[in-house]
Amino acid sequence: MIASTRVPVAGATPYDVVIGTDVLGHLSTLVGTQPRQVLLVHPRAMADVVPRVERVLLAAGYRVTLAAVPDGEAAKTAEVAAALWGLLGRMQLTRSDAVVGLGGGATTDVAGFVAATWLRGVPVVHVPTTLLGMVDAAVGGKTAIDTSEGKNLVGAFHPPAGVVCDLALLRTLPQEERASGMAEVVKTGFIADPRILELVEADPASATDPDGAVLRELVERSVRVKADVVAADLRETGRREILNYGHTLGHAIEKVESYRWRHGEAISVGMVFAAELAVAAGRLSVDVMTRHRDLLVSLSLPTTYTRARWPELLDAMRVDKKARGATLRFVVLDDVGRPGVLEGPDDDLLASTYEKVSR
Ligand SMILES: NC(=O)c1ccc[n+]([C@@H]2O[C@H](COP(=O)([O-])OP(=O)(O)OC[C@H]3O[C@@H](n4cnc5c(N)ncnc54)[C@H](O)[C@@H]3O)[C@@H](O)[C@H]2O)c1
Ligand SMILES: [Zn+2]
Repeated sequence: MIASTRVPVAGATPYDVVIGTDVLGHLSTLVGTQPRQVLLVHPRAMADVVPRVERVLLAAGYRVTLAAVPDGEAAKTAEVAAALWGLLGRMQLTRSDAVVGLGGGATTDVAGFVAATWLRGVPVVHVPTTLLGMVDAAVGGKTAIDTSEGKNLVGAFHPPAGVVCDLALLRTLPQEERASGMAEVVKTGFIADPRILELVEADPASATDPDGAVLRELVERSVRVKADVVAADLRETGRREILNYGHTLGHAIEKVESYRWRHGEAISVGMVFAAELAVAAGRLSVDVMTRHRDLLVSLSLPTTYTRARWPELLDAMRVDKKARGATLRFVVLDDVGRPGVLEGPDDDLLASTYEKVSR
């Protein structure tokens, strides 16, 4: 048996997240037992990993159709989704078949979205190949594509039938992409699991090594937290909000930068901002705020953004929140592992806090 850990995700349709090294073999148990067909969605740029996944599926008796999609965010369009629906139609894929999403968060998002909408929902199994995909995008059941008006505007909640996080796939992931994923890991540490922070602090460089023991524990711990949170709140009406720690300013930076910044880089600045805001509001100790800065810097993540762009950022944050019709809300910490909400801080407090994370 391949050494692996299974993290269960509870809910109306429970599933497992398998975590380990060289664990692609588990894919067949997650896709299902009867021989049937699978649409394997992958970025064109990752064609070299495809045969490894395809082999497992073929050995388990599935008929496999490959669907190469554009790399990264370019896959999350209505055109790509329509092309995949066309393929599913020609395959005559039914609800007893499955879609497999192999790639980063962008690929698993579009694969999940197409699975959510085809026949009002067919099973999807994710094989994330980025750290961010493993600890965030592939787990939790949110799927989406973008429109010209913005990111993730069209989507559905569609929990996967299973997720395989094979750390061996991370060996080729560039350092910047690893760091971006680590920002979500650190976020998880601050909101819910202090042990994550200690593990990273002990040796930041080896923490991102796919062949080291630490990364596996970090992925497991992060997935457990996300699993617990989404099991309690799939549709983001309450507790799931804590996963947005650092994301209010982070999303605004991504938007102002026209998505040239990596997600984790933007939320790194966002977390320092949220920590400084909590300090300014008298809720968090300076020590915990400093811990944010030290940790993120040790992972080569940014902690500042351009001073002159504050008005644009403020606008972007307000638009982001319009759907809720409310004042700005920030997830903040009262301590490590104790997230809360800061509602409607005044503009002066926001502006003076931004001074501390800008240059
Ligand atoms: N559904 C959710 O809950 C959720 C959560 C977080 C993020 N997301 C989405 O995830 C996306 C970001 O995910 P991401 O950071 O994984 O980005 P990504 O999917 O764009 O991948 C980043 C880059 O890494 C490359 N790559 C992927 N795996 C690789 C590997 N093993 N080796 C070498 N290169 C590899 C990709 O080809 C791409 O160029 C965004 O679209 C975001 O909206 C979704
Ligand atoms: Zn995020």
